[in-house]
Amino acid sequence: MIGSRRYRTHTAVGAVGAEGETVRLAGWVHRWRDHGGLVFIDLRDRSGLIQLVFHPERSPDAHRVARRLRAEDVVSVEGSLRARSSDTVNPDLATGAVELDAESVEVLGKSEALPFPVEDETVEVGEELRLAYRYLDLRRSERLGALELRSAVSRAIRTTLEDEGFLEVETPVLTRSTPEGARDFLVPSRLQPGAFYALPQSPQLFKQLLMVGGIERYYQLVRCFRDEDLRADRQPEFTQVDIEASFVEPDDIMGLVELVLSAAFAEAGERLPTPFPRMSYADAMRDYGTDRPDLRYDLRVRNWSEAAARSGFAILEAAIAAGGVVRGIVVPGAGEGLSRKDGDGLVAEAQELGAKGLVWAVVEEDGLRSPVARFLDGLADDLGAGPGDLIALVADAEDIAQRVLGALRTRYAERFGLIDEGAWAPVWVLDFPLVAWNEDEGRFDSLHHPFTAPRQEDAEALAADPGAALSQAYDIVLNGLEIGGGSIRIHDPELQVRALQVIGIEPDEAEEKFGFLLRALRLGAPPHGGIALGLDRLLMLLAGERSIREVIAFPKTATGADPLTEAPARVAEAQLRELGVRAQPAPRVD
Ligand code: AMO
Ligand code: AMP
Repeated sequence: MIGSRRYRTHTAVGAVGAEGETVRLAGWVHRWRDHGGLVFIDLRDRSGLIQLVFHPERSPDAHRVARRLRAEDVVSVEGSLRARSSDTVNPDLATGAVELDAESVEVLGKSEALPFPVEDETVEVGEELRLAYRYLDLRRSERLGALELRSAVSRAIRTTLEDEGFLEVETPVLTRSTPEGARDFLVPSRLQPGAFYALPQSPQLFKQLLMVGGIERYYQLVRCFRDEDLRADRQPEFTQVDIEASFVEPDDIMGLVELVLSAAFAEAGERLPTPFPRMSYADAMRDYGTDRPDLRYDLRVRNWSEAAARSGFAILEAAIAAGGVVRGIVVPGAGEGLSRKDGDGLVAEAQELGAKGLVWAVVEEDGLRSPVARFLDGLADDLGAGPGDLIALVADAEDIAQRVLGALRTRYAERFGLIDEGAWAPVWVLDFPLVAWNEDEGRFDSLHHPFTAPRQEDAEALAADPGAALSQAYDIVLNGLEIGGGSIRIHDPELQVRALQVIGIEPDEAEEKFGFLLRALRLGAPPHGGIALGLDRLLMLLAGERSIREVIAFPKTATGADPLTEAPARVAEAQLRELGVRAQPAPRVD
């Protein structure tokens, strides 16, 4: 292990076994206590904790220094390592059977008063403060554990891909816009005033060019940049495990990803059931109301349209008459003890999600309990619900009903304790539509990106009915989180031009924006495809965290800021002038 003997001969945990020897250790003062003359210090380094004892008579100089040490001072300590007496052994500590009888101590770095305790991890610290002092936060074992996991998982992924013949190739960070559906971060060019680089939303076009370049199997653990509204599972810069291969079909990429993910999970001591189940986009939307279904619990969305149309309940009948649907979910056991007021709460919640209302019903031994029970004949039997179950129905246009029920499904599963927390439920979602109609813009948008190949049988008729074409895309979803997406790409330049036309990019504009890709496709392009996994999301799941910020050393807050460096920051006028850029005045803060 690298390190100078001037500071230490062992790590804390590495010292175990050196009983009877003189050892030197270095690290942070984790905990400090003075017990009637004896000073006890828990010394912390990356490996863990070890107890130091300073004796006033045996080592008066060291004892004098130790008495003045404070939490998080950095020290180097020499002494003899000895076994603790049996009554003082601490079974909770890897080093709990030994202690260092300190003979000399050198203070390497003092710590001023801390903004929050490092030692007591039960003290909840606001995230803003933790991020402002991230280096202190990183000293806590949970954060360190996340970074250790990240490093180990990254290594396992690299090893797996290298073993499969993949070559890691770096791609540019200063580049042109790649359309992945987010806003670009731009970097002004000094040498070409008025021109801008875009930071890559992904290396999509470069990895395709690498395939044209004959690389055949490419991967990269790569930073991607997207200026979008941030959530717990989104950062403006995040890391992809980016993969592309030539002469492949979807099964090849899916098999490879199952291998890569299994290796990553094994690193965390977890096992993933392979092969992963597969589901079509249409089935996912119909049964789970989302294209990223959480399969740790069942709670499928059911159809009650036919019976609802004859129910005599005007609201439901009107929804069907207008071409809509009545669908619902059955939540096992959730009806027990559900009051009228709780029911009103469920209605309000559905309305917040965009539904016009919600019919709720509790199945009881002798019938349904619901404000509108008289209209719900046969409902429990139709949906297979039994006593104690809660039924929730939404009547609306199909897309709204599905979306609302998809959202309620996950909320109810959590609220009513239906999630098997230790379970891993991966699923491939396939057969996506190639494009989706964008009401606001009055045109089609790519569902993935514009380089995704349509199914062969849909390629010919693409222009005639774009909305009906399915793509050769595949998303990997784990426990309801999209952790990766990819596709077979278009490698026929003429088809690429037509596909761009479908989303409103006319051939002239296509040449102007993507001429470099089209030229490459015209110079001998192999069939190819790939995928990108969201490494941060994967680690968040593996670490059992609720936010990807917890698995990133220096993440950004929801406003895209870094409380530590205070980025983004205003820059000097002169710097802007040099770049040919003028900034708006700072908004006034009152
Ligand atoms: P896509 O846009 O689906 O595909 O991105 C791939 C995966 O990256 C993760 N991800 C994110 N993670 C954290 N923060 C974000 N802002 C963020 N955005 C995306 C997700 C997602 O599944 N070039 C294509 C891949 C391909 O076709 O090969 C692409 O980037 O887990
Ligand atoms: P109202 O007549 O608006 O008071 O609604 C009667 C009941 O029907 C209330 O419990 C509403 O929440 C419910 N409801 C209204 N619209 C819908 C809808 N589109 N889908 C399901 N339930 C609805």
